[in-house]
Amino acid sequence: MALDLADIQGNLLRGYRFTDARHFALALTDGAAARRFLGDVVSGNARRGPQITTDEQWTVKPRYCLNIGLTYAGLEALGLPPGTLAAFPDAFVQGPAARAVQPDPDFPTGVGLGDVDESAPSNWILGGGATPAVHILLSLYTEEARTRQLEAVSARLRKRFAAAGLTEISTHDANALPNQTVHFGYRDGIAQPQIEGGTGRDIPDMQPKAPTGDFLLGRGYLNSYGGNFAGALPSALADNGCYGAFRILRQDAAGFERLLDDWSQTWGLDRELVAAKILGRWRNGTPLTLAPTGAPGAPGAPGAPGADPAVGERQLNAFDFAPSERHPTYFDDVDGVRCPVGAHIRRLNPRSSLVTGKPHTRRIVRRGMPYGPPYDPSARDDGVERGLMGLFLCGDLELQYEFLMRVWANQDYATHGLRGTRDPVVGAQPRGTGSLTVRTDDSRDPIVMTGLPNLVQTRGSLYCFMPGIGGLRYLSALPGGAGG
Ligand code: HEM
Repeated sequence: MALDLADIQGNLLRGYRFTDARHFALALTDGAAARRFLGDVVSGNARRGPQITTDEQWTVKPRYCLNIGLTYAGLEALGLPPGTLAAFPDAFVQGPAARAVQPDPDFPTGVGLGDVDESAPSNWILGGGATPAVHILLSLYTEEARTRQLEAVSARLRKRFAAAGLTEISTHDANALPNQTVHFGYRDGIAQPQIEGGTGRDIPDMQPKAPTGDFLLGRGYLNSYGGNFAGALPSALADNGCYGAFRILRQDAAGFERLLDDWSQTWGLDRELVAAKILGRWRNGTPLTLAPTGAPGAPGAPGAPGADPAVGERQLNAFDFAPSERHPTYFDDVDGVRCPVGAHIRRLNPRSSLVTGKPHTRRIVRRGMPYGPPYDPSARDDGVERGLMGLFLCGDLELQYEFLMRVWANQDYATHGLRGTRDPVVGAQPRGTGSLTVRTDDSRDPIVMTGLPNLVQTRGSLYCFMPGIGGLRYLSALPGGAGG
């Protein structure tokens, strides 16, 4: 089915690959004025302010892009009628702070989405109990090295906010690091679902295409379960919308380097191999599955550019952990000999391996960008905050994003070989007692590396509905509402 790209917000089907971002967390005080603001940003008239970027193909890359997400509180404040509000799914309605503290009836000892202890919503700088309710998340993307735009466009937006009665609760800036890396020194931005009808750049990945309905609502799109995630929402609102989990994740870069020192010395393993076992890819992006012991030039220093020449740039995602119907004779790494069963990329996308959950149905699009300055390993603990501003997009927050966090990252029953462990990168480790199991070809097999600390701390989170352009027009045309 041909997709109406002009109706879909950009950044879902295809990444912008900009280097700078500013996320404005806004609260609305006047429903009518806020609805006019929504109308203005999709009016197609740039004189009425910066416009929301769509997924239409561009020949000349724009100087900036803009996206918008609305929280459930935002939709309420805009004046969406109760009957329509009731048609939104529970996870979105409740939001990430409430979801974090909900006990899981099946696993009372579980940690839910992992937002516990220092990651608890009470400590958040955004979206938690200690900060005002956010209604709108407006995300501005620029490429400052090419054209300095961030401050100028922010100033234009702020004028519009003032006129629309939108209060700026906080802003959150992100900036890309060299060579597509994230803090901890790994290359990111390689693996993304290829969506039916999508416009993203396709590199071979041995996985089926994700059904359009796993990411976009309405329009008769089918999801992996043969249904449509729009449910009872009016199609004028739901069509071509999707959901996003926005998360500010602080990374302990010094703690990560200390962990590499510790585990490599304790177990006599190459430091870079330890880093690769934690993630499932060498720091330069080469998957362990394709280069289990490294290859000339593979491991590289933190942030090393490029791929292992033996694997090749286009092959960086062409691997699986198990055979499947499409490749029945493929090597079965069932025990994690090449890539640990508990490695970050394997937990969060087990590909064809046998795990809890229908295969290939829990995909998410990742549009994160690091924040904070690069970490200098020679400086050790510099006390500076840095991390990842993650935006995880999907058609259903509970079945996709939350399932990843609740079951695959923070539980240990999804498949064998995980017992007693959590995701080494994003899992909530029980007070420095986390562990990762690594297979070896010597008498020590398996090695259980212990003393894994919490490497990532949640600093804030919002769940947003990201309507299509028609959906935004529908909202702008609503009658009544707060102050309206
Ligand atoms: C600060 C926190 C995080 C860091 C440093 C991090 C880092 C990475 C890196 C370096 C990759 C490999 C690059 C690639 O395959 O494109 C990756 C892949 C991935 N991450 Fe994370 N990540 C973080 C948080 C998360 C969270 C919270 C989720 C879950 C919602 C997540 C889900 C995934 C998925 C699904 C993949 C792709 C796996 C695949 O398809 O092979 N990550 N991550």
